[in-house]
Amino acid sequence: MKRSLILGLESSCDETAAALMEQGGKLRASVVLSQAGHHARFGGVVPEIASRAHLDAFPMLLEQLWKEGDAAPGDLAAVAATKAPGLIGSLLVGLSLGRAMAYRLGVPFVPVHHVQAHLFAAALGEKPVLFPALGFIASGAHTEIWFLQSWTRAKRLAATRDDALGEAFDKVGKLLGLPYPGGPHVEKWAEKSNGKACAFSPVRLKDKTLDFSFSGFKTAVRLAWERSEKSDREKAEIAAGFQKAALEEVRVRVAAFLRELRPRTLVAGGGVLANRALRSILEQTAKEEKVELCLAPLEFCGDNAAMVAGLAEWFLKEGYLPKEDVGFEGF
Ligand code: KG4
Ligand code: ZN
Repeated sequence: MKRSLILGLESSCDETAAALMEQGGKLRASVVLSQAGHHARFGGVVPEIASRAHLDAFPMLLEQLWKEGDAAPGDLAAVAATKAPGLIGSLLVGLSLGRAMAYRLGVPFVPVHHVQAHLFAAALGEKPVLFPALGFIASGAHTEIWFLQSWTRAKRLAATRDDALGEAFDKVGKLLGLPYPGGPHVEKWAEKSNGKACAFSPVRLKDKTLDFSFSGFKTAVRLAWERSEKSDREKAEIAAGFQKAALEEVRVRVAAFLRELRPRTLVAGGGVLANRALRSILEQTAKEEKVELCLAPLEFCGDNAAMVAGLAEWFLKEGYLPKEDVGFEGF
């Protein structure tokens, strides 16, 4: 039997995921189990519950993966798992499972950085990523801009000083009384208004860097909501005002870096890339700045293991094995 598949495992936060990537980069199967239901009543992810839910989920998720991929452990050429960043208890579940499987099968183990994998999700779409590229990632924990010479040579240009963009969406959702996670709900409410009735000021950081800061929006939204009569119309206006202002922060920075660095491609990934307004802003910006655009396909914006297995497949093809103790920045 030919060992030709790469197994990817993801368990950094509240999604348990596994995927099989063929050598050559064709996705064979990908399964994701969200724990959102476990955490909803707490209004955020509870680390202890998350770790235990990963422990419960992996055995049956792997059974499902073998079935969907018409494969068995003996078909594996390598095993990859998310190594960092994330909740340590959750990471340990996927990492330990991956290491143990690789050891038992006598195949390489590939530790994968979560932020790097979110960016690599852009390569799971139709179009090839041409380097150098500008990478934008927006998730529940990260909002960063990277300059990528390749998938292994990258420099971080900007990051958030406080809340991540997804976190800001979630906190705004909570303030407006929307279910957890708030991001998709805020987007739905924002679609009901043009955002003009409740405009929020842009963020000004004193040191004039292009870092992000989203925490001020939280206070502005809270004050606006407290002053309002809490009608549906006002809820929509505040959600739209927040979304418009927060996404403008992204547009301004991405456009500035594209103009300065002139990369060939703009790549973007992370859970918040499921937001239609954000996708269309990036489409428009890429068009104006005349760069190719590779957005993570919708199904691979949130946490998934296809991006983990895909990046590992690329590493192995390049003969590159990342060290377990370094981050994306160390490459
Ligand atoms: O990448 P991800 O699944 O997990 C992390 O690595 O953090 O991102 C989850 C984040 C959450 O904050 C969620 O509310 C946000 O992505 N999100 C959205 C949308 N869909 C998910 N934010 C805004 N609009 C959306 N449609
Ligand atoms: Zn993530």
